Amino acid sequence: MEKMVFNPGPTALPDEVLSKAKAGLGKETYEGLSLLELSHRSTEYQAIHDNAKQALRRFLNIPATHEVLLLQGGASLQFTMAPMNLLRTFTCGYHIVTGSWSKKAYSESKKIGTTHMLTSSEDAKFSYIPKATDWHSTQLDPDGYVHITSNNTIYGTQWQNFEQLPSLPLVVDMSSDIGTRPIPWEKVALAYAGAQKNLGASGVTAVFIRKDLLSRDSSDLPAMLDYKTHAEKGSLFNTPPTFNIYVLGLMVDWMIEQGGMDEFQKRSEQKSQLLYELIDDSDGFYTGHAKSSSRSQMNVTFQLPDEQLNKRFLESAKQSGFVGLSGHRSIGGCRASLYNGITLEACEKLVEFLASFRRTHTK
Ligand SMILES: Cc1ncc(COP(=O)(O)O)c(C=O)c1O
Repeated sequence: MEKMVFNPGPTALPDEVLSKAKAGLGKETYEGLSLLELSHRSTEYQAIHDNAKQALRRFLNIPATHEVLLLQGGASLQFTMAPMNLLRTFTCGYHIVTGSWSKKAYSESKKIGTTHMLTSSEDAKFSYIPKATDWHSTQLDPDGYVHITSNNTIYGTQWQNFEQLPSLPLVVDMSSDIGTRPIPWEKVALAYAGAQKNLGASGVTAVFIRKDLLSRDSSDLPAMLDYKTHAEKGSLFNTPPTFNIYVLGLMVDWMIEQGGMDEFQKRSEQKSQLLYELIDDSDGFYTGHAKSSSRSQMNVTFQLPDEQLNKRFLESAKQSGFVGLSGHRSIGGCRASLYNGITLEACEKLVEFLASFRRTHTK
């Protein structure tokens, strides 16, 4: 049976990317060596490494003002590394807490330096993205930065744009929506994203940092936790995750070939719209967790009328080949994650399945 993957990450990769990844593992491409056997200091690997960084620059339209780093430790390590490095230049970090991941980023940052919670949407189970009126009475230090999570993977909410945010430099966890809409680089001091959702496989984290932030003295920082170390060595200070970087390059090249960012923005809108329309037209059989104005195009979270039906839905979906539709344990229900490797056809099949499940389970 054909499986359709809607995992929250790691997630589906296009067949073209998977078959090139497989070819890299064989002995044919690199004169008798598998990619897994190549030295990270070889010219062959250097070409793979450089390609991945250049492809990211092209696909995400990254200006010369920002450095591209390929690191390990997941987005979770960035919760520590970002304040450790940035709170030398900036006086404090203002965090807007919109879900479990941004809550983690906030609590890790507090361990490092001056960190404030600007506002949080936890009062309503993180079902909405706050508005400027929620923090307009707070006097902000002009030397601080603002940290946000652009898309909340667990709750299915997303910043619709960054326009209402305070006019301080932004630090953005883009783990679950990178590569699905243009990034306003002029506002971004630092952005980071694990690759396993929209950029390839797990094991590598893309970090984008404004170059001027690398110029201050950081000699007292542990070398591996210092962005400057990685920038100076072109992300080859230590052995990088060579295969994961290869897959990232393949995935980003594939997205460029498919039409680039504009195309994936359009596809994300189409895919999520299909599901939200079905939810909205279901007479309350399916109810979304996120407030309509805060809905995510990446993670569609919804519930059925009761726990028993939820369970039956998930079991039946699994039997029909739909993988990864369980909601996160902290909110339950269901979640369909629609990253860039997921096709419109798979979403159409999912929507058909939802419609048919509703027909057979309404009296
Ligand atoms: C928005 C967001 N931030 C951070 C993380 C943690 O990422 P990692 O597992 O790469 O550390 C995740 C994981 O799903 C996420 O969705």
